[in-house]
Amino acid sequence: MKFLSVKSVIIRNSVRNIIMESKFIINGEKPLSGSIKVKGAKNAALKVFPLALMTDEPIEVVNVPDIEDCHRAQEMLAALGHSVKKLGIDKMQIQRQNRTCLNLSAELVNKFRASIMFVGPLLATCGEVYFPHPGGCVIGAGTRPIDMFLDGFDKMGAKLEVLENKYRLTAKKLKGANIFFPKITVTGTESLMTTACLAQGETILENCAMEPEISALAGLLNRMGAKIEGAGTPTIKIAGVKKLNGGEYQIIPDRIETGTFAILAAASNSGAIVIEDCEPKHLGSLWALFDKIGVNYELDKSSVKILPTDKILATDVTTHEYPGFATDLQSPFTVLMTQAEGVSLIHETIYDRRLLFADLLTQMGANIIMADPHRVVVNGPAKLYGRKLISPDLRAGMALVIAALIAKGKTEIGNIYQIERGYEKLAERLKNIGADIEKI
Ligand code: EPZ
Repeated sequence: MKFLSVKSVIIRNSVRNIIMESKFIINGEKPLSGSIKVKGAKNAALKVFPLALMTDEPIEVVNVPDIEDCHRAQEMLAALGHSVKKLGIDKMQIQRQNRTCLNLSAELVNKFRASIMFVGPLLATCGEVYFPHPGGCVIGAGTRPIDMFLDGFDKMGAKLEVLENKYRLTAKKLKGANIFFPKITVTGTESLMTTACLAQGETILENCAMEPEISALAGLLNRMGAKIEGAGTPTIKIAGVKKLNGGEYQIIPDRIETGTFAILAAASNSGAIVIEDCEPKHLGSLWALFDKIGVNYELDKSSVKILPTDKILATDVTTHEYPGFATDLQSPFTVLMTQAEGVSLIHETIYDRRLLFADLLTQMGANIIMADPHRVVVNGPAKLYGRKLISPDLRAGMALVIAALIAKGKTEIGNIYQIERGYEKLAERLKNIGADIEKI
C-alpha cells in the first residue's frame, strides 16, 4: 500500500522537471507486429478522482493509467486533504481525511484542464472554492474558455467573483436548474452533471456531449446514490440527493489510445498488430473511415487486429463530437493520410490550433498545404524523413511518434512530458511490437 504524501508530491515535482527534459529517440522503418494492450481511459479517470470530494466513504478505482495527468489529479486530492492509496498495480483507493483548503493549487491547475472537475464538488460540499483558469494542451484560441461552466454554476445559484489571477465561487446551497449548452462540451457536461447530484431539486442539461466517458461517470455516480437519467444522450436529468456513498469503478479502456494504435498499425503497414483490452464499439467512426480507405482490420469484442494492405486511399475527414470522428484522433490520422494515395482534406472543427502541428510533418517531408487554421490538404503518399522535433501537445506529440516510426532515419522528439501526460510506458509498449524507440 502506498500513500501520496506532501513529500512525495515535492519529489514528484522535481522528477517532473527532469521528465520535461526527456526525449524519444526513434529509428524509423522497423517492421511492427505483435500485440499491444490498451490502458484505462485518461479522460474517464480524470473525471472520477474529484468524486472523492463528494463522499465520506472511500472510492476505489481500478484500471487507473499510470500517466502524468493522473499523477497531477492525485496530487490535487492529496493537497485537498485526501489519502490516495495504491492497492495494486492499477488500483487506487481515495478517501477524504481533513478538508484542508478550498484553494485549487495554481501549479497543478495549470498542468491539466480536467482540474476544473474539482470545482463543482468543492462548491457543492463546502459552499466556496477558489481556482485559477485551468491549463492543459494549448490547442484552442488563447486560454481554452470556461464560460459554459461558469454560466452553469451561476444558473445553479452560485456567485462568481473574479479576483486577481483567480475565480471565487460561493453558494450556500446549490439549486437545480435548466441549462442549455450553447456548444457541446465534454467536461462541461461532466462537471455540471456531477455538481447537480448534490444540488437541491432537479437539473436538466440539454445539448449535452455523449462520449462513452460521460455514461461511465454517470454509472458510477448512480452506484454512489445519485439519480441521473439520460447520460449518453443529448438530455440529462439529475434529481439532487442529500449525500453520496462510496463506490468502486472500473475505468473503461481508452478509445483514443485504441484508435491511435490502430492508425499507427495502418500507417506502418508492415505486419499484423492486435490491439487488446479495448472497446472497439466506441470507435465506429474510425472503422467507417478504415472501410473507405482500404485498411484491413478485424474487430472482436475487446480487440482489433490490423493487417497489412496493398494500398491506402486518401479521404476527407471532419472532426466531430462523439459519435463522430474524434478531434483527439485527428493528428494521428493526418500522419496516416501522408501515406495514402491521393489528396485528402483534414477539417478540424473543435479546436483552432490543433492542426498547426502539420507544419512539423512538412519538415519531415510530407506534402501538406495549410488552407487555414482549421483545414489542411495532404498530398500523398510522401516519404517521411527523421528530424529533430519538439512535441507541441499530447496528441500532436503522439502523431510525431507515429511519423517517426514510419520515417527513414533517426528522429529526436523533445518535450515528451506532453506525450506522457496521456500514454503510459509508451516506449516500452512500442518496443514490444518491434519499434526502435528509446527514452533518454
Ligand atoms: C475534452 O476536453 C477532452 N479532455 C479533450 O481531450 C477532447 O479533445 C475534447 O473533450 C473534445 O472531445 C478531457 O476530457 C480531459 P470541450 P474538453 O469542452 O472537455 C469550447 C486530449 O487530448 N468550450 O468538449 O475541455 C472549447 O474551447 C484532450 O485528451 C467553450 O467555448 O473539451 C472547444 O472548442 C485535449 N467554452 C469546444 O468547446 C467552455 O466553457 C469543445 O471543448 C468549454 C468549452
